[in-house]
Amino acid sequence: MVQQRSKLNPLADLVDMAIYVYHQFSDVPLDMKVQQVLDGTHLVNHFDQAPKVIESRPTESGVQLIWSLPPGLDTKDFDSRRLAIEQQTGTIVKIELGKNGAVVVMTLYRAKFPKEIPFNFNLKDYPDMMAPLPIGKDPAGKLIVVDLAEVYHILCGGATGYGKTSELFVFVVSLLLAGCKVSAIDKKAIDFPLLEDYINVAQDEESALKILKSHLKEKEIRAAQLREAKVQKIQKLKGKMRYQVLIMDEATGIENEESHGIIKTLVREARAGGIGLIITTQKPSANTWKGFTDVRSNLSGRICYYCNGDANDSQVILGKGNSRGAELPAIAGRCVWKWQTEEVLQSMFLDAEKAIQILEANNVPKRGASKSEITEQRKNRIPT
Ligand SMILES: Nc1ncnc2c1ncn2[C@@H]1O[C@H](COP(=O)(O)OP(=O)(O)OP(=O)(O)O)[C@@H](O)[C@H]1O
Ligand SMILES: [Mg+2]
Repeated sequence: MVQQRSKLNPLADLVDMAIYVYHQFSDVPLDMKVQQVLDGTHLVNHFDQAPKVIESRPTESGVQLIWSLPPGLDTKDFDSRRLAIEQQTGTIVKIELGKNGAVVVMTLYRAKFPKEIPFNFNLKDYPDMMAPLPIGKDPAGKLIVVDLAEVYHILCGGATGYGKTSELFVFVVSLLLAGCKVSAIDKKAIDFPLLEDYINVAQDEESALKILKSHLKEKEIRAAQLREAKVQKIQKLKGKMRYQVLIMDEATGIENEESHGIIKTLVREARAGGIGLIITTQKPSANTWKGFTDVRSNLSGRICYYCNGDANDSQVILGKGNSRGAELPAIAGRCVWKWQTEEVLQSMFLDAEKAIQILEANNVPKRGASKSEITEQRKNRIPT
């Protein structure tokens, strides 16, 4: 294409070269570069009105730009230019709607992620969360922590060997430190059995079904307790009811149809009673098991690790039209976190050995501990 054009107009090559040199070597401020991308991709509404920068706030790792939002445009219009902005500016970009609407907040991070971030989580910083989950650090080094009691259920996907199980270990430790009850289904039976002193682990179809049935029963017991207390959400019973989490590592490997049915019911009905599901899989496509697409649509939080540059896989994990997972570099722990906003994070790395060390150092009660031991631990839950 370029060759063809240069034959017709050699001047065009010179212009391209001049633009390239200008971008590479001139000290154009980030906001101007972004403006050029938006102008170049003709981001305007039907009245030909373009967004304008109304505030530019320098940050330690880049800049935050506040854009006016002309009528008819929305954050998706900015999202569709995000990759171009990232490539033109050499930054990582987060785009979100301003708190009061009508503006778009665009954060550009110049900083690079460290290669490996060790587990470091202080529960005391999140006193209001029932089930805190540290998803990962943003490029500025800020740890993003969400409450599973607010997110409800999470789907985590991505190619083999890029950090799904490590992330689950981070979650297990954080949840146990916070006094939640955690169980896991791990049909591969390699990783989670190592944590069996602390959590109930199913390694085969039969015990997976057993765990799922016990969660179904627990859901019904909890629904009755909520009715009795005349409240709709477990948050209202904070301190009285323990948050419970069921983790399924490579959930597509669960074969039993009865289990599939229970998973479907749990993702539909269990959240109010304080039961959250976290499901990982390499490929969460429709042809895994019947009904899996229904399950997937009820998993509101999404974590997408590197997916071999496959835009289709990224869309299955992050939603229709979202190829961001395919744009990730092939780096273990690098992921896209999508819930109320969307951002690129580096998750903390944790293996079973270190997880056990942390649990031991914090006197987290082992399985089968007495009620008084659990109460004592919850009173003194200060992670080291
Ligand atoms: N957050 C991280 N930071 C740095 N390295 C990581 C991180 N998570 C995982 N790794 C590296 O990647 C390897 C594989 O991670 P993990 O077992 O979590 O992958 P996975 O996605 O669960 O793979 P599979 O789908 O095969 O189960 C780890 O042994 C570790 O070397
Ligand atoms: Mg794994």
